Amino acid sequence: MLRLDHLTYAHPGQASGYSFTLEAAPGEVTAVSGPSGSGKSTLLDLIAGFLAPTGGTLTLDGTSLIPQPPEHRPVSILFQSDALFEHLTAGRNIALGLPPGTPKATRQDRVTAALAEVGLPDVARQRAETLSGGEKQRVALARTLLRDRPILLLDEPFSALDDATRSSARDLVRGLTTQHGWITILVSHYADDIEALATKRYAIVDRQLVHEAQ
Ligand SMILES: Nc1ncnc2c1ncn2[C@@H]1O[C@H](COP(=O)(O)OP(=O)(O)OP(=O)(O)O)[C@@H](O)[C@H]1O
Ligand SMILES: [Mg+2]
Repeated sequence: MLRLDHLTYAHPGQASGYSFTLEAAPGEVTAVSGPSGSGKSTLLDLIAGFLAPTGGTLTLDGTSLIPQPPEHRPVSILFQSDALFEHLTAGRNIALGLPPGTPKATRQDRVTAALAEVGLPDVARQRAETLSGGEKQRVALARTLLRDRPILLLDEPFSALDDATRSSARDLVRGLTTQHGWITILVSHYADDIEALATKRYAIVDRQLVHEAQ
């Protein structure tokens, strides 16, 4: 179980800070909604360790994540604007999600499987800069899913996808979350993504998380 208890933070210049309290269970998608600027990305940055809280607790199965630097946290994150290396191929970008030292044959198999899962079986050798926005987002999703860490943070992951691709990307996230027992936190202002995926819902209201009944 991932638990945030009055995890607090204020950006420079903000008079009052955020105070986030949340519980998210393995195998479930916990959704967080809120208008633009409400603090959704800030919440994910605190969990991932890119921002240091000023108070409160953040624990996974009772162990505090706060002392751990971002690269050691059991977290994979898909950013709102994907961060692919433009000059590398889609395949190389995805392989970056695998642990260092993964044998080449395994790497190739995993990359091929990941690309097939996001519906792009033919782009492995294509440089990222030549992909469309939606294709890039799917490659970034494939890389994030390959990391296979216990906590998966998704920031508006499907916003550049058309309806058909969006629906298969949602199925993929839901299926892998259940199968691997990931704690998935989905941040979105798209009601239909939340409707389709969320087991539990929160909204950010006045810089706090409010649990919403289903
Ligand atoms: N580094 C920063 N310094 C100062 N203010 C910041 C910083 N980062 C974010 N903010 C402010 O904090 C608030 C919350 O930002 P955040 O990015 O978490 O919102 P969001 O809910 O993710 O919005 P969106 O839906 O547009 O992505 C915004 O008002 C933003 O301007
Ligand atoms: Mg955001």
